[in-house]
Amino acid sequence: MLQGTICTLRPYRAGDLEALVEAADDPEVTRWMTAGFPHPYTRTDGERWLAIALLDDPPNHFAIEAAGAFAGAIGILPRSGEHHGSAIFGYWLGQRFWGRGIATDAARTLARHAFGSRGLRRLEASVFVPNVASVRVLEKAGFSLEGRMRASYVERDGTVCDALLYARLATDPDPDAISG
Ligand SMILES: CC(C)(COP(=O)(O)OP(=O)(O)OC[C@H]1O[C@@H](n2cnc3c(N)ncnc32)[C@H](O)[C@@H]1OP(=O)(O)O)[C@@H](O)C(=O)NCCC(=O)NCCS
Repeated sequence: MLQGTICTLRPYRAGDLEALVEAADDPEVTRWMTAGFPHPYTRTDGERWLAIALLDDPPNHFAIEAAGAFAGAIGILPRSGEHHGSAIFGYWLGQRFWGRGIATDAARTLARHAFGSRGLRRLEASVFVPNVASVRVLEKAGFSLEGRMRASYVERDGTVCDALLYARLATDPDPDAISG
C-alpha cells in the first residue's frame, strides 16, 4: 500500500471487478490509452486483467483508491536487457474522478516508490500529443520532455498524431520536495 496525499495506491482485489469494468468501459478513458487497453471493456477483459494483476509480485500494478472508492489504476512495466533499471509508466482514472489532482498525486506517489524501494533508474511515458491532461500530470510529477516522435501514433478513429516522450530519472528533482 502506497499512501499519497489524496489517494492510496493498493494492490488490486478480486472485488474490484465491477468498479474496474464500470470505469474502464468508457471511450473517453480509452481514447489515448495504447491499444492493449480494450474498448469496449467487458467483464471478461476485467477478469483477464485481474487474473494477471492479482499475481503481481513484486507489485507493478496498483489500484488507485480515492475517498474509499476504486478510481482507476497506475503501474510500471519494468524493462529488461539493455533497458534494465528502466520502466514504462502508465495510469488512467474513471471519468468521474478527473480534474481533482488524483492522477498527479498517484504519479508522484508511484514514482517515489519506483525510485525508492524498487531502485529503478528511469521512468518513461509516451503520450498522444492531444492528451493535454496527461502531459500536465507528467510535468507536475517531475517528468521532462525528451522528444517528439512524429506521426508515431494512430488514434482509435484512425487519426495519425505525434507522440511525446516524457521521462524522469531517479536523480531528477522530486516535485514533492519542491512544491510540497
Ligand atoms: C490523464 C488523466 C489520468 C488525468 O487525471 P486527473 O486526475 O484529471 O489529472 P490531474 O487533476 O492530476 O491533472 C490534470 C491537469 O491537466 C489539466 N487539464 C485537464 N484537461 C485539460 C485540457 N483539456 N486542456 C488543458 N489542460 C487540461 C488540468 O487543469 C490539470 O492541470 P493543472 O493542475 O495545471 O490545472 C485522466 O484524464 C484520464 O484518466 N484520462 C484517460 C486515460 C489516459 O489518457 N491516461 C494517460 C495515458 S498517457
